[in-house]
Amino acid sequence: MAIFVNMVLGRHFPKILISYGLCLLLSCSLSSCTETDVACLKSIKASLEDPFNYLKSSWDFNNSTEGYICRFTGVECWHPDENKVLNLRLSDMGLKGRFPVGIQNCTSITGVDLSSNNLDGPIPDNISAIIPFVTSLDLSSNNFSGGIPKALANCTYLNILKLDHNQLSGQIPPELGLLARIKTFSVANNLLTGPVPTFQNANISREDYANNPGLCGGPLDPCPGSSKSPHT
Ligand SMILES: *[C@@H]1O[C@H](CO)[C@@H](O)[C@H](O)[C@H]1NC(C)=O
Ligand SMILES: *[C@@H]1O[C@H](CO)[C@@H](O)[C@H](O)[C@H]1NC(C)=O
Ligand SMILES: *[C@@H]1O[C@H](CO)[C@@H](O)[C@H](O)[C@H]1NC(C)=O
Ligand SMILES: *[C@@H]1O[C@H](CO)[C@@H](O)[C@H](O)[C@H]1NC(C)=O
Ligand SMILES: *[C@@H]1O[C@H](CO)[C@@H](O)[C@H](O)[C@H]1NC(C)=O
Ligand SMILES: *[C@@H]1O[C@H](CO)[C@@H](O)[C@H](O)[C@H]1NC(C)=O
Ligand SMILES: *[C@@H]1O[C@H](CO)[C@@H](O)[C@H](O)[C@H]1NC(C)=O
Repeated sequence: MAIFVNMVLGRHFPKILISYGLCLLLSCSLSSCTETDVACLKSIKASLEDPFNYLKSSWDFNNSTEGYICRFTGVECWHPDENKVLNLRLSDMGLKGRFPVGIQNCTSITGVDLSSNNLDGPIPDNISAIIPFVTSLDLSSNNFSGGIPKALANCTYLNILKLDHNQLSGQIPPELGLLARIKTFSVANNLLTGPVPTFQNANISREDYANNPGLCGGPLDPCPGSSKSPHT
């Protein structure tokens, strides 16, 4: 079992999650704990407009086979015979609506790709409570607005955070610099202003900040009024 779990999770996965996943696999084979993930997908389907019928044609919940949701378009499970969502990839489907908070019922999801749709409204303030184990979050090329939530800094497993091509405004929370695993970070083409975070372990380039009205610091020009020279 342990070897199997390691194979499924791959070597980049945090140890704590390996044991968490193992517990899930053991407990779910006995009970209906995976019902929450079915509720998760039902809620997502219900909350999004789907003008091209990607979800309507594929996400059919009239089934009782364990693992049936794993065949749905865009859904990848921890194990193909178990209704437990690992990744959700709903890129470029013309989806409309708000960030689907029902995703909080996909309790062990690690990858969320909602890029290149027509989603709008804010990124939820409690995003870290909604998807606490996310390693990859791609919300790029939508119409999300408002600020970048500070709570993203609590999604401590994040490797990839793509927020580019939206309408996000205000400052980038400096706390994001604390994300110890971040490798890819992009906020290009938004309405952001102010200093960029200082990342401890990532080398973020100018292109990742491009086309915002007022970002400064880091790889960009120094912030107005800042006299200190770069300290790295
Ligand atoms: C669900 O599927 C069963 C057969 O598998 C069918 O008899 C029933 O009408 C279906 N219900 C709905 C709501 O589609
Ligand atoms: C339920 O899902 C399984 C797995 O995708 C599929 O093989 C089966 O035909 C489905 N049953 C119904 C009634 O749709
Ligand atoms: C999560 O699922 C439960 C049922 O398992 C449901 O009552 C609840 O409304 C769902 N939460 C969200 C945010 O969709
Ligand atoms: C996040 O906030 C939304 C509304 O603001 C709420 O419906 C949801 O239950 C919250 N989720 C968690 C996991 O706290
Ligand atoms: C994006 O949102 C802005 C307001 O925040 C709105 O004016 C614009 O029409 C939206 N664009 C699309 C393509 O939905
Ligand atoms: C983020 O984590 C800190 C420290 O654990 C906590 O105090 C804070 O409430 C969390 N913020 C959110 C939005 O979850
Ligand atoms: C960071 O990236 C820039 C350009 O992409 C490169 O010039 C620089 O050497 C890199 N710095 C480190 C420490 O890797």
